[in-house]
Amino acid sequence: MITFSYVTLFKSLISFYFEESILKRAIDKNLLGIEFFNPRDYTKNKHNKVDDYQAGGGAGLLMCPQPLFDTLKEIKKISPEAYFVFPAPAGKPFCQKDAKRLANKSHLVFVSGRYEGIDERVIEEFADEVFSIGDYVLTGGELASLVMSDAICRNIDGVLGNKDSLEEESFERDILEAPSFTKPAEFEGLRVPSEFLKGNHAKIANLKIEMAKLKTRYFRPDLYARINTR
Ligand code: ADE
Repeated sequence: MITFSYVTLFKSLISFYFEESILKRAIDKNLLGIEFFNPRDYTKNKHNKVDDYQAGGGAGLLMCPQPLFDTLKEIKKISPEAYFVFPAPAGKPFCQKDAKRLANKSHLVFVSGRYEGIDERVIEEFADEVFSIGDYVLTGGELASLVMSDAICRNIDGVLGNKDSLEEESFERDILEAPSFTKPAEFEGLRVPSEFLKGNHAKIANLKIEMAKLKTRYFRPDLYARINTR
């Protein structure tokens, strides 16, 4: 059992995602537990304010240290093994290898910033890792936390019905997944490649490798360069 804790001002931006499909099943099967902490509940000021102007000027508001410090200290006290993950556009890129690695932790805490971000002292004090999910800026960390949670969750033993689906996937060997097809063999004049219908599994496997390489070269020349220099 792994626990995902979400530190967020907007629980509903995250909780909806666990109400359907695979992640719901992971919770129902006791493979995953989720919990929420709202930093606003930990404020010590009269108006429960969680944000303030930036020191030294700069556009927009930042999340203040006090409510987050108190929230995260409380989580640490309850759960010494808690591992703190901060989504931020200024983090390192989140990759499949991180999803696999983090699936082995017992307690992950995702700390979502809002407004222009979080006072850096919170990150310095608590972050075990800071991740970006891509080179663009979201309005808050919630979506990024969900993206990482989803990618991590499907690497937890028992979450996916079929273990093979993890083995063949994109990024497992720095190569994109080969195109795949289902029935019917012909749809609106578009055919499944004939080799796929003949049942020679070795040939199909080779064809898939070639198609995967072509796809990688077309869509991700950066990955393709890596597979060719090995
Ligand atoms: N918060 C805002 N933008 C983000 C991004 N690209 N990745 C992770 N967290 C973020």
